[in-house]
Amino acid sequence: MCGIVGYTGEKAAAPVLLDGLAKLEYRGYDSAGIAVLEKEGLQVVRRRGKVAELAHTVGHFDLTGTCGIGHTRWATHGRPSEANAHPHASCAGDIAVVHNGIIENFAELREELEGRGHVFRSETDTEVVSHLIEEAYVANPDISLVEALRLACTRLVGSYGLAVTCEREPGVIVVTRQDMPIIIGVASDGAYVASDAIAVIGATRDVVLLADQQYAKLTPEGAEYTDERGRAIEPQLTHISWDVDVAEKGGYPDFMLKEIYEQPRVIRDTLAGRLIGGRLEIDELDMTSEELNLVDRVYVIACGTSYHAGLIAKELIEGWARIPTEVEVASEFRYRNPIITPTTLVVAVSQSGETADTLAAIRDARIKGARVFGITNVLGSPVARESDGVIYTKANKEIAVASTKSFLGQIVSLTLLAMLLAQAKGKLRMNQIRLLFRELADTAEQVEQILADTSDIQKAATACVDATSALFIGRGMGAAIAKEGALKLKEISYLHAEAYAAGEMKHGPIALIEDGFPVIAIATDSPVYDKVVSNLQESKARGACIIVIATEGNEHIRELADYVIYIPKVRDGFSAITATVPLQLLARSIAVMRGCNVDQPRNLAKSVTVE
Ligand code: AGP
Repeated sequence: MCGIVGYTGEKAAAPVLLDGLAKLEYRGYDSAGIAVLEKEGLQVVRRRGKVAELAHTVGHFDLTGTCGIGHTRWATHGRPSEANAHPHASCAGDIAVVHNGIIENFAELREELEGRGHVFRSETDTEVVSHLIEEAYVANPDISLVEALRLACTRLVGSYGLAVTCEREPGVIVVTRQDMPIIIGVASDGAYVASDAIAVIGATRDVVLLADQQYAKLTPEGAEYTDERGRAIEPQLTHISWDVDVAEKGGYPDFMLKEIYEQPRVIRDTLAGRLIGGRLEIDELDMTSEELNLVDRVYVIACGTSYHAGLIAKELIEGWARIPTEVEVASEFRYRNPIITPTTLVVAVSQSGETADTLAAIRDARIKGARVFGITNVLGSPVARESDGVIYTKANKEIAVASTKSFLGQIVSLTLLAMLLAQAKGKLRMNQIRLLFRELADTAEQVEQILADTSDIQKAATACVDATSALFIGRGMGAAIAKEGALKLKEISYLHAEAYAAGEMKHGPIALIEDGFPVIAIATDSPVYDKVVSNLQESKARGACIIVIATEGNEHIRELADYVIYIPKVRDGFSAITATVPLQLLARSIAVMRGCNVDQPRNLAKSVTVE
């Protein structure tokens, strides 16, 4: 999604803005731009393409101004182009705006503004904001920039994180938000704003996470905060603890590989402090055991990889707590009329905590009376703020677009939730909880074992690199893991992949099988292992190239598989943690061999903050 940066202080703004935009690149974008207040007026420089190309163009301008805003754009309204890149200016060119989100009523606003003579230069929804601010000044030339922005926002419907600067108030940046994150940091050399803390913590770790309909006026001396009616407010500071080196590759060729190798730590960090005196403690959920015991239906809502974590959760919650659990794609859940009662628990899973569909589903569920738990990786994210309780996945900043370590953090968190529900329901006694917790903690070491030798994964990758499609199959937990494996492969290698419950092969997918067709199976020790083997035999008989994730010690599978990737023996309920790691590495190896950018796959963004 789009990225916003802004700076006003004692330093030249352009380098600060470009550095901030570079830190936001991981979010995915297709164009970028900055606006700097120079002595002679507002200077806007925009480019389609990467921040590095923008920096090259900026080098041709002698920008010395110390106040400016910048943006990386992921196209929604209007194709990727220089004209549609932010910042967007007013008719007079004295006001510049950058925006993250979607203004849903922009078409009618544009028509109204054009009817009053405003000239638009882009196809974007954002540009209406600069003209609305311009009109506020026309109506009242003495109005302050923050008041002009407040007036403009009264006309907007939709989601927005906005930063604005204007020639009338040199050195000032005003910001506000609705549903989109805006983070502000004041340091000794000036004031910083960004849509993601990663672009601010180099200057200060103590930041303000602006809330919806709050406004801030940034000056070189600091920031003043007001509410939607202009009343002064004193927002609280949040300390960002993760290290900036999170945003560096640490010697790895790409962020994805670094983050795959961080997974043992994520498991340990997510589990830390959760078992106290033999009892599970997740007090952030703010529900008593008695209240949890009343839960009679669970919906897990999410998108993409987070949805796959929900599929794992279903197996565990129904298996241990015996509570009916449905896993729903958020974009579907929000538009159907789900059955929700006060004893319904909705669990929203979102790495970014910003996914528009997941957020909308949370709001819908709360209106209908459900209790909502958020499972997210971003402190103070909209999902965290809008849930009744939240479990943080402790994965630290995840830079690569493809979710890996946050996925394992989600599975561990959802496993804890399943155990907590089972504990509340009296389905798991304390000694069983302790045993499960210890086995769950052991998966960190098992993942380390897998990561220690990836040679078999590399060999299996060579069998797929020239394929045009691949089929992932599994049963039970394996079926959910297969979905995640297929998504990882297609999203970073652009190789089409599908996942099926292995039992479905004879109902259609087996028609795909021909000589050399890759079938990747999760065939770890489980009650349905023999059934998976049968499906593999049927595929093998038709020429498939069989790649198997199997439990170490299983020599029998070698007779059937072309490539075997062994993983340590774990309880079936925890196999998603261990079996997913080889599939992450397999997808990455294939993508690298195919020359793909594994950190920033084409067309994708790290968080989908629009519908
Ligand atoms: C998965 O690798 C992708 N990054 C994508 O499917 C992602 O899981 C999905 O967009 C949901 O994002 P969220 O967890 O931030 O809500």
